[in-house]
Amino acid sequence: MKFYVETFGCQMNVADSQEMGRRLRGRGFSPTAVAAEADVILVNTCTVRQHAEHKALSYLGRLAGWKTSSVKRCLILAGCAAERIKDTVQRRFPQVSVVVGAKSIAQFDEILDAALPDLGYDAPRESLDAWGWMEGADEAHPDDSVTAFVTLMRGCNFSCSYCIVPAVRGRESYRPAAGLLAEVSAKALRGQSEVLLLGQTVNSYRPALPNPAPGGRDVADFADLLRAVGNLPGVRRVRFMSPHPFYVNDRFIAALAETPTICPHLHLPVQSGSDAVLGRMRRNYSRGEYLAKAAALRRAVPGMSLTTDFIVGFPGETEADFAETLSLSREADFDGAYCFKYSPRPGTGAAALPDDVSTEVKEERLARLLEETEARSRLKAQSLVGTVHEVLIEAVRTEGGIYRLEGRTAHNRKLFVEGAVPAPGTYIRARVSAADGKTLLGTPCEAACLS
Ligand code: SAH
Ligand code: SF4
Ligand code: F3S
Repeated sequence: MKFYVETFGCQMNVADSQEMGRRLRGRGFSPTAVAAEADVILVNTCTVRQHAEHKALSYLGRLAGWKTSSVKRCLILAGCAAERIKDTVQRRFPQVSVVVGAKSIAQFDEILDAALPDLGYDAPRESLDAWGWMEGADEAHPDDSVTAFVTLMRGCNFSCSYCIVPAVRGRESYRPAAGLLAEVSAKALRGQSEVLLLGQTVNSYRPALPNPAPGGRDVADFADLLRAVGNLPGVRRVRFMSPHPFYVNDRFIAALAETPTICPHLHLPVQSGSDAVLGRMRRNYSRGEYLAKAAALRRAVPGMSLTTDFIVGFPGETEADFAETLSLSREADFDGAYCFKYSPRPGTGAAALPDDVSTEVKEERLARLLEETEARSRLKAQSLVGTVHEVLIEAVRTEGGIYRLEGRTAHNRKLFVEGAVPAPGTYIRARVSAADGKTLLGTPCEAACLS
């Protein structure tokens, strides 16, 4: 029996999909890359903006034929959009067999226990912990990515007025440090030397005590966790998504500065450069505080790359507010940015405010902000020409007999190298020979690989 997974949304969803996939494999299902030949299709959805939800749900429409061609086929609708519309799913999408809202991912096994026998499946399960992990159980079927995605907390305790995530993912819950460290350690020793720690506001992580880590010290907060993960044998690169500016404090900055395996890249969403807008967004920081923290990070970690998220056209955003966003982008000197048009989400605080910035103005501001952030990103790429970087190879292609390796620098820049032949998961040193837009092109330094 085969299962196919289609994932929409952020990296938390990618990690959730992997976790649900592990549980399906634990019942004897094997993964397939071809949806049409699957017995079970899992669609993991996003609802952060209306467009994101629409994309995920229209994919369901395309599966109606697949589902009706055999009664035994099972369509599982999971994730954030599933949570938001769970009461009306069966009426709107009769092809859906099982609904697993984002708040119920940890109960995936129980949901399958209840649903699968009715669909004619008889598949006893492996017992994994509440985070989908049990040392040993996963050994037989590692995922093939070079990066280990590891969720350390679920939910969000902030209440940004535009954001639907707290409604669909619930309050924060923290994964116990011991199991988390065991998972990272096992994956690192198996070859996933890069780890991506995940949470909606990953640096608010605050696990229950006591929880002595290797070395005997308790992990009290995210700074402690970073140090513990960064010092595990086999771990060569530590990344995390997304820190919240509110929890960027001295302990956090010191952990970054003092742990060499933590990558010098931070994705630190700012959303707006205007204090008036930040206040109405309920972001819990001011423009000045954000810029001061960005500067402190840059002082502590030389060469730190900083990326961000922006929303344009939030209710009441004036041209002067938007000018502040543009000027913050210049001042913070971001290496890259994701820019979004505000999209009202039902039930959020901001949905009660008039969505008074017209579509034309939202689009025009988005274009201006993209122009500023993309130009900056291209300039940064250009300034790296001639420098040498350690590159983790993620994919290898052959084009006309030439190997083309795709990898990432520690600063999270994509870099293409031609000519060398190491496999995904290995590191090479490369000199940047040119920049193609935001992407780097490089040549291997010597034939020798670092590992
Ligand atoms: N937890 C992360 C953000 C998760 S959502 C954080 O707080 O940093 C990812 C991004 O989507 C946000 O940073 C924001 O820029 C954007 N976003 C969220 N809700 C949105 C909405 N209603 N309209 C437009 N963009 C939105
Ligand atoms: Fe949404 Fe704000 Fe929580 Fe991020 S911190 S998930 S933007 S409520
Ligand atoms: Fe989307 Fe849910 Fe992530 S709404 S952005 S998949 S947390």
